[in-house]
Amino acid sequence: MCGIIARIGHGNAAEPLLSGLENLEYRGYDSAGIAVQNGSGVKVHKCSGEVSRLKSKLDSQPHGNMGIGHTRWSTHGPPTDENAHPHTDTAGDVAVVHNGVIDNYEELKTSLRAEGHEFESDTDTEVIPHLIDEYRAETGDTERAVRRAVDVLEGSYAIAAIVDGEEAVYAARKGSPLVLGLDDDEWYLASDVPAFLERTEDVIYLEDGDLVVLDPDAYRITDLDGNPVERAVDTVDWDPEDAGKGEYDHYMRKEIHTQPTALANTIEGRIEDGDVAFEDLPAGSFEDVECVQFVACGTSYHAAMYGGQLVREAGIRTEVLRASEYESTSGPVDENTLAVAVTQSGETADTLDAVRTAADRGARTLAVTNVVGSTAAREADDAVYIRAGPEVGVAATKTYSSQAVTLAMLSQRIAGDVPTATAADDRAAMLEALADLPQQVETVLETSEAEPLAADTIDSESFFFIGNGPAHSVALEGALKFKEITYEHAEGFAAGELKHGPLALVTGKTPVFAVATGDADGKTKTNAIEAKSRGAPIVAVGPDDHPLVDIADAHLSVPDTHPVWTGLLANVQLQLLSYHAATQLDRPIDKPRNLAKSVTVE
Ligand code: F6R
Repeated sequence: MCGIIARIGHGNAAEPLLSGLENLEYRGYDSAGIAVQNGSGVKVHKCSGEVSRLKSKLDSQPHGNMGIGHTRWSTHGPPTDENAHPHTDTAGDVAVVHNGVIDNYEELKTSLRAEGHEFESDTDTEVIPHLIDEYRAETGDTERAVRRAVDVLEGSYAIAAIVDGEEAVYAARKGSPLVLGLDDDEWYLASDVPAFLERTEDVIYLEDGDLVVLDPDAYRITDLDGNPVERAVDTVDWDPEDAGKGEYDHYMRKEIHTQPTALANTIEGRIEDGDVAFEDLPAGSFEDVECVQFVACGTSYHAAMYGGQLVREAGIRTEVLRASEYESTSGPVDENTLAVAVTQSGETADTLDAVRTAADRGARTLAVTNVVGSTAAREADDAVYIRAGPEVGVAATKTYSSQAVTLAMLSQRIAGDVPTATAADDRAAMLEALADLPQQVETVLETSEAEPLAADTIDSESFFFIGNGPAHSVALEGALKFKEITYEHAEGFAAGELKHGPLALVTGKTPVFAVATGDADGKTKTNAIEAKSRGAPIVAVGPDDHPLVDIADAHLSVPDTHPVWTGLLANVQLQLLSYHAATQLDRPIDKPRNLAKSVTVE
């Protein structure tokens, strides 16, 4: 939520700032802005709307070798030009961009106003440049002023600031991500690596409490008391091309179509001699586990349902909990509880909160995430990476598939370690079939009939998705994706639930997409027939020889595979359906209204 970037070096800063903001737009896109410093003052350019609007409003490329930038997802105040970042102090000498929420901004504003500071926006952020200005006036030293300013802030922040007449960028973080990018002759700071991935792969993941000062030739990291801090330099193994759209119209389409590669990376080297091997979690790592709790939100929750079912089937106590409801839904937790945070970004506030609560209650924690160096990865006792590569489209696609496969593999690792667990009879066959999954996804992508089906059904009133067992979570995910990017009403149900209420909504204008995996589908066909009797068109999503196909009006076919993987192939069909329906409705595919990819507020 909100993306920030800063750059300092010897060339012009505006171009890398603007292209970096485009790569960060998945974090929010209701306003954008940059500020550059070139020895003749701090120049701020900002407006409501997307980065493309900001670019079109710039008469010429702003000049200056250092600057900061921001793309906004509104929390405090509507998306207006005034509320867009960067914000400045009254004189316009200090400019700040911020990702996070300042809880005590109202009281700070009141006391700053009493000192003569004037405010122009509704935002919480605006207090920060005023505080820095106030403390600069007192101390005559910007670094000390920044330190004092962050010391009085309550809440979460990643901030970057520039100051008139200074060849420096100041930054700090607490509770919001911030990563430093190190190129030969320029430094970057950003909320996430794709902001500068085209320029450098060498990064330092900053920690809470770090304060950074960049000048054109050096960077310095200290703690909030000013003591030097050493942080390791990592090399990101994402391909810079992953950060762009390539030949595709939309990131979402690219990410759907690159799933075979993403899945091959997810699996690579992790199946050995018919068993699952995770890098830092060798056999025996989970032998003390008595209960597994999965905590996640949205699409990641659906992937957690998929993986959770396999742990449950192994006879291990399993809870799959919505992270935002963790406090009120978690069962008892102790040191034999493994709390698994499933989070693509590793930054989702609800998920972090849930896993921290689990840790406080004594659980061992494990992050299953896509982002190396993310907060979840750093805070959890262990991390397993899904290796899907960067995902920019707000609607999660390839990361769902990679999460579900990672969790399925994890379920087998846990089941193999827990002495009381019962291994699936066909475990070896299941793991063997995994090797074919990338190619089978490719087959779905090449043969899918989702585009004409989307055209045939787009005029419907509502879209229902049903499934049993593993297909239940696929139905929920299909409906979430559909509503998220088409803005049409869509709901997912456990098939057997349809007749307990939702059937009242079923008419000839409500297609029902029935997902079948070949495992525990008993109720899906009977409930689909009940919907058909009320006039609903039925679309079977599953293998060709599934009995559901016989009663369906249309069919989205998936190749035969082990039933554990069938749901993932069905989900690819549903991703394509959503994508084509949204394209036909001319929706902004990669930036659905009101949403942001990384939800860092509760
Ligand atoms: C939907 C979507 C969201 C995320 C959710 C959790 O397409 O992307 O529902 O899955 O916000 O995000 P992460 O996985 O980053 O914790």
